[in-house]
Amino acid sequence: MQYANPTVTQDEAPEPTNEAAAARPGHEPHAATSFDPSTLHAVDDTPIAEDERTTVFEIRGLTARYSGAPAIRDVTMDIHSGRVTAVIGPSGCGKSTFIRCLNRMNDLIPGFTTEGKILYHGQDLHASGVDPVAVRRRIGMVFQRPNPFPKSIYENVAFGPRVLGMRRDLDGRVEHALRRAALWDEVKKRLRSSALELSGGQQQRLCIARAIAVEPDVILLDEPASALDPIATASIEDLMHELKREYTFVIVTHNMQQAARVADRTAFFSLSGEEDGGRSGVLVEYDATEKIFTNPSDKRTEDYVTGRFG
Ligand SMILES: Nc1ncnc2c1ncn2[C@@H]1O[C@H](COP(=O)(O)OP(=O)(O)OP(=O)(O)O)[C@@H](O)[C@H]1O
Ligand SMILES: [Mg+2]
Repeated sequence: MQYANPTVTQDEAPEPTNEAAAARPGHEPHAATSFDPSTLHAVDDTPIAEDERTTVFEIRGLTARYSGAPAIRDVTMDIHSGRVTAVIGPSGCGKSTFIRCLNRMNDLIPGFTTEGKILYHGQDLHASGVDPVAVRRRIGMVFQRPNPFPKSIYENVAFGPRVLGMRRDLDGRVEHALRRAALWDEVKKRLRSSALELSGGQQQRLCIARAIAVEPDVILLDEPASALDPIATASIEDLMHELKREYTFVIVTHNMQQAARVADRTAFFSLSGEEDGGRSGVLVEYDATEKIFTNPSDKRTEDYVTGRFG
């Protein structure tokens, strides 16, 4: 199956597919704050209780495997709206695997399987009838390396809305997304230039604009600043502060100062031994960021945040 979410990687082809073109043509977006679960489901609408509204994801006993080998094991946590949630932990503990589960991006990998449940606004993301393209329209993603399409700045931002049939006032939509991503002033005079001419930091803000343009509910970021210099990194962090009331952000970062600066809540993952001698990622501790960094409950978290982890 091909995916045409505007936030897919460059390798995954920016050309519209039939599936994406059929993804609700003429369907107008919902404001990020008034999520309509029917936009996810092809066949069934389950009523959402009012008190679940602020819980965006309920992750229950999530185990994710590549060809049978678990990368994360039995992860249970909730992610709330209007907040920045950081995921930290040593290399290989399954941070990328975890956030890619949240918009079913791992479905693209042969041999990838999951157990457990991810409820998104109360809806099981893996239920039959859930359209993965619609999932990725609601839950956008920004990757470690900026990956603009080899097209103009304008086309990078306009691509997603166009594919989704959000054609009304496309110029206005592009401008709005670029303004929200704090890039407009730098590019407004060269919208038709290639996106590849932009600096790394500008390209990453363009990728954020591209994600914003389809008015998602959640934006997942996997180490979005690791290839950027400190100034570009600061501008991405400022952006998250600025936008967090409108979007729910989940960010993977290796950089603990960054997690401390941007995140309201932080999840610490670590590696744990499996019976067969292998290792898989487990959620050790999840709490207010300040608590994780200043007074963690688990010794493993403390060792990691104080740099004693080997
Ligand atoms: N496409 C894949 N196929 C097979 N195994 C994979 C794949 N992607 C990740 N893995 C394995 O899953 C485990 C977790 O990897 P993952 O990339 O999620 O970790 P991570 O915490 O994001 O690491 P890093 O900090 O280095 O980015 C690792 O053992 C990795 O080798
Ligand atoms: Mg990773």
